[in-house]
Amino acid sequence: MLKINPFSILAETVSPLAIQVFILAMLSLIVIGTVIQMIHHKNVTYFFNNAKKAKLAAERELGVGETTSVILKTVVHDIATTAELGAGKRRIAHVMGMYGTILFWVASVVLVFFYTGTEKATSTIWPIIWHVGAIMTCVGGYWFWLFLRVDVLAEAHPWYRVIKADLFVLALLACATTGLAWSYFQSSGSAGLEYLFLVLFITSNIVLFGGVYWSKFAHMIYKPGAAIQKNLAEADGSRDNLPPLADAPKQFGLGIKREQPKHY
Ligand code: HEM
Repeated sequence: MLKINPFSILAETVSPLAIQVFILAMLSLIVIGTVIQMIHHKNVTYFFNNAKKAKLAAERELGVGETTSVILKTVVHDIATTAELGAGKRRIAHVMGMYGTILFWVASVVLVFFYTGTEKATSTIWPIIWHVGAIMTCVGGYWFWLFLRVDVLAEAHPWYRVIKADLFVLALLACATTGLAWSYFQSSGSAGLEYLFLVLFITSNIVLFGGVYWSKFAHMIYKPGAAIQKNLAEADGSRDNLPPLADAPKQFGLGIKREQPKHY
């Protein structure tokens, strides 16, 4: 199963062009949903106004070299390892889900556009990347959703309580889970279940990409932007109008040791 490209088997009954059009339609939904969200929530306007304000408060001007170095450090440290989540389970779960999803999406595009259809070559490595990506998404995503979510971990809500904010993570998990199930039943030759999971896989993709406007999908664009802005503001001394860190020992009293911080 791991070495089989499920899209090339699908292409025996569905035109490869239709599968490619589906992927392009999903990409368009990301762009449309993100742009409408930016216009409606005015977060880009806020972001640029904030950056302008920070520039006025800057204590010194950064040169091109220093700006590039701050941006590169932010990409390598803050963004690539989601440093914002601190050390611990949340970060490991997020990193696993994030890289799993990236592998799953990149492999989907490569498999559909380069290895699906008559006279196209076959690949064993890309189907493996697709399946491993889906498995990593499931491990990181279910771990986060079942055990680490703030409302479950800190607010004692039951794991099965679903709210609108869960749209992104649940749609992402539905895509990875139904994709794996579709591939499994396809290779085990169970036609009924294969088609059931194919329909569920298509539906969850439409929900994930069609729901960008309502979900947290666009955080993967906003969060890196905010991290770069924050580090530039620290480097030029504007610090988002916050006071500098005190050069003194931390004194929170013994109470701080009684419980792990989890009241966000
Ligand atoms: C392909 C890229 C990414 C994927 C698939 C992804 C996936 C997720 C998922 C599923 C969640 C849980 C959403 C929820 O609260 O229900 C999440 C939360 C979060 N993500 Fe991402 N993410 C990506 C990129 C990033 C990047 C680049 C950053 C930061 C630079 C980031 C920072 C965060 C933060 C801070 C949270 C909140 C976590 C929490 O509540 O504990 N993510 N992400």
